[in-house]
Amino acid sequence: MCGIVGYVGTTNDGTALDVVMEGLARLEYRGYDSAGVALLDGDHVETRKKSGKLANLTAELEARPLPASTTGIGHTRWATHGGPTDQNAHPHRGGKDGKLALIHNGIIENFHALKQGLLADGVEFASETDTEVVAHLVAAAYEQHRDLTTAMRAVVADLEGAFTLLAIHADQPDVVVGARRNSPLVVGLGENANYLGSDVAAFIGHTRHALELAQDQIVTITPEGATVVNFDGTPAEGKAYEVTWDAAAAEKGGYATFMEKEINDQPHAVRDTLLGRTDPEGRLILDELRISEEQLRNVDRITIVACGTAAYAGMTAKYAIEHWTRIPVEVSLAHEFRYCDPIVNERTLVVSISQSGETMDTLMAVKHARELGALTISICNTHGSTIPRESDAVLYTHAGPEIAVASTKAFLAQITASYVLGLYLAQLRGGSFADDAQSVMKELAGVPAKIETLLAQMGRVKEIAKFMADTRSVLFLGRHVGYPVAMEGALKLKELAYIHAEGFAAGELKHGPIALIEPGQPVFVVVPSPTSEHGLHGKVVSNIQEIRARGARTLVIAEEGDEAVEPFADEVIRVPATSPLLAPLLTVVPLQVFALWLSTAKGLDVDQPRNLAKSVTVE
Ligand code: AGP
Repeated sequence: MCGIVGYVGTTNDGTALDVVMEGLARLEYRGYDSAGVALLDGDHVETRKKSGKLANLTAELEARPLPASTTGIGHTRWATHGGPTDQNAHPHRGGKDGKLALIHNGIIENFHALKQGLLADGVEFASETDTEVVAHLVAAAYEQHRDLTTAMRAVVADLEGAFTLLAIHADQPDVVVGARRNSPLVVGLGENANYLGSDVAAFIGHTRHALELAQDQIVTITPEGATVVNFDGTPAEGKAYEVTWDAAAAEKGGYATFMEKEINDQPHAVRDTLLGRTDPEGRLILDELRISEEQLRNVDRITIVACGTAAYAGMTAKYAIEHWTRIPVEVSLAHEFRYCDPIVNERTLVVSISQSGETMDTLMAVKHARELGALTISICNTHGSTIPRESDAVLYTHAGPEIAVASTKAFLAQITASYVLGLYLAQLRGGSFADDAQSVMKELAGVPAKIETLLAQMGRVKEIAKFMADTRSVLFLGRHVGYPVAMEGALKLKELAYIHAEGFAAGELKHGPIALIEPGQPVFVVVPSPTSEHGLHGKVVSNIQEIRARGARTLVIAEEGDEAVEPFADEVIRVPATSPLLAPLLTVVPLQVFALWLSTAKGLDVDQPRNLAKSVTVE
């Protein structure tokens, strides 16, 4: 939540304003309630800020241009303290002379007490934000220390909560200082120019050399380099890495929206997530896990912690991992995990799933699990992010940058990576499914081509979505791995089209939800493969008949060649045949496409739905 950019360099790299605005455009998905920039101009700081999307700030900059500068910071906001107004937009100024400008991502939990102290000293506030309190504190500390890094260090010692802060000061040109605690901040290293960003997208147009920071660190960038210290003042070093994707990966590539592009990226997301995880004999090798085989063999319980779409990936993985390993798997919404007095010990493997690697709820669950002695593995899509850092090990998904707020390709990559983990555990533990690991991996390798086939036949789904633009409510049913897919389909529709949508386990219908069915009610049904065990397929076909008999309009997602659904379906959407546990990698695709085109038909902003932000860095 909130996008942060900092730049210091030479005019050869473009003016600070160009660099900062380009970074904000790439980070806007992190929050779009307001945007603002601050630049150093001689002996003073100039700011421009505007509520609403970045386009409003661009218009403001055209009306009131800023001078060329080599030092600047910029912010896109997801509002927490204070509404989304011009006054509450960042940057905030500090000190009587306003020589300091500061931006912030996170929440300062003790801001009220700190504000009372400042008010008692006669400080006047221009906004309702917790951020402005910090701006005044850093400005006051600067008066004492005459050095921005030292001033920042003095202030962060008194702050409670999670924060990334960036500041510039008119008396200290060519310097941007950043601080982080439980909130993202990465450094970009250029030539005679350096960058700060909430994520690497902020500077990917300029450099792929990045520096990962640890918790509770302060970084000072100048055109010459970046210096890191811990909050206690001891020198530190960031961890250097190369970003594996380029600016083109963070662009729409000819599609109208990022979401459409990302849906079409899904074959790559799955293929790349499988890459390099088997040896020439097809045996799984996960050296990257850095957890001994002995420790993994000892695991007697797995808890998956995640939120939203990532939690649905976790629910899908539960079916597969339990089937392959016979280890009990529990899926816990990360924000509930800490409060349910979880049964976790050193034989518990806690697997967190997060695209961004910054979701605060998930981060706090991981920390709690570690405190309780669990082994922690993070399945994550973002190199250098906080959750992998705070975990014992990481299994990266390789979906590439996901910009649309609604998660699509990350979901498929998360299922893929958690299946890889489950198969690896099965292989390690021996037992009846150890030998199957190789054949399942082979089948997984064939899934990207099936997704490609499926994507090429989505024309009818697009038509159905357009036709349903006025629909007020849609239900989704599924059983077994189709159940989390149904919930994911409903989530996509809620967040993108703002209509009532609910996903149910199909068997639950008769215990209450069937009362919702009235003539014309659209219901998507995710039908399991006819090859599923325990008569699952037949049970879902019966469920379709039950709702059809009560007037529902049935939109059935079924495998190629599954003729049993035909008599009871108003629409049949075909997916390529695959074994039952792999089916979610296909059956979710039409639901994503449906939500995309229904939202488009309603004229809504597909990539930036209202009230949301891409990474949720507050609890
Ligand atoms: C889904 O479309 C959402 N944007 C959301 O549910 C998301 O999956 C959730 O907030 C978790 O994010 P993460 O994967 O970055 O941790």
